[in-house]
Amino acid sequence: MSDYATSLGVQYLKATKHSREEIFEKRREEIAPAEPFKQKQYEGAPVIELPKVAPPDASLWKALRERRSVRKYRDGQMDLETLSALIWAGQGITGRIGNYLLRTAPSAGALYPIETYLCINSVDGAPPGLYHFNVPFYHLSLLAEGDYGRELGERAMGQPMCWRAQVVFVWSAIPRRTMAKYGSRGIRYIFLDAAHICQNVLLAAQSLGLGACPIGAFFDDEVNHLFGLDGEEETVIYLASVGIPK
Ligand SMILES: Cc1cc2nc3c(=O)[nH]c(=O)nc-3n(C[C@H](O)[C@H](O)[C@H](O)COP(=O)(O)O)c2cc1C
Repeated sequence: MSDYATSLGVQYLKATKHSREEIFEKRREEIAPAEPFKQKQYEGAPVIELPKVAPPDASLWKALRERRSVRKYRDGQMDLETLSALIWAGQGITGRIGNYLLRTAPSAGALYPIETYLCINSVDGAPPGLYHFNVPFYHLSLLAEGDYGRELGERAMGQPMCWRAQVVFVWSAIPRRTMAKYGSRGIRYIFLDAAHICQNVLLAAQSLGLGACPIGAFFDDEVNHLFGLDGEEETVIYLASVGIPK
């Protein structure tokens, strides 16, 4: 169809392609780095320390074979160790080179543009609410206490997973972190980064006997507002519900 070639998506893909002919000549936009460049900190927010993870003795191959998107969950609480394992799978630190904190998931240029937020509905040891995961300190900062699952679900086009799951992961991007190095092509990398993180969490959930579902359908700025994000310097790009399967 003619709309395909002129669509914003195709124009973007074309405009951000690398080719042998242009790789050295093509002008890259000059984008100032994010300030502060470091991982986000919520100074003064109440903190929930995450227990250290004892990796379950589970086979990657089994998890790959058996993973399916699970959208129905049982009532009940997830324990904090299990939540910690899921978080670690997504963004745990596994190495260090200079100031770079290397993670379980790869990141283009080791720039780590993705921040992890949680909507906790039912976890033993963490009251329901909205949280931010502090990567270097390995703790959760409580941003707002309360039952936000339904509100998040309404903003995710009414998807009940958001209030029935024990926890919903909400991943935002701070595009400048990656765009300052890669220009607009960096947008491609940001979504790839998020997908790596999400898949780690999905496979970890499978290994732990939980069910999970990635969520791409949501009203962007409505979810941004819930987490106090401006939608430009930082914007939510992906969600995943994780719960005890029915
Ligand atoms: C980028 C992306 C966005 C998705 N968004 C949603 C969503 O909003 N709601 C939903 O129920 N499933 C969503 N899914 C799950 C897909 O429907 C699911 O992965 C697909 O049907 C294949 O099934 P499987 O995951 O069980 O293999 C999404 C998956 C991806 C990769």
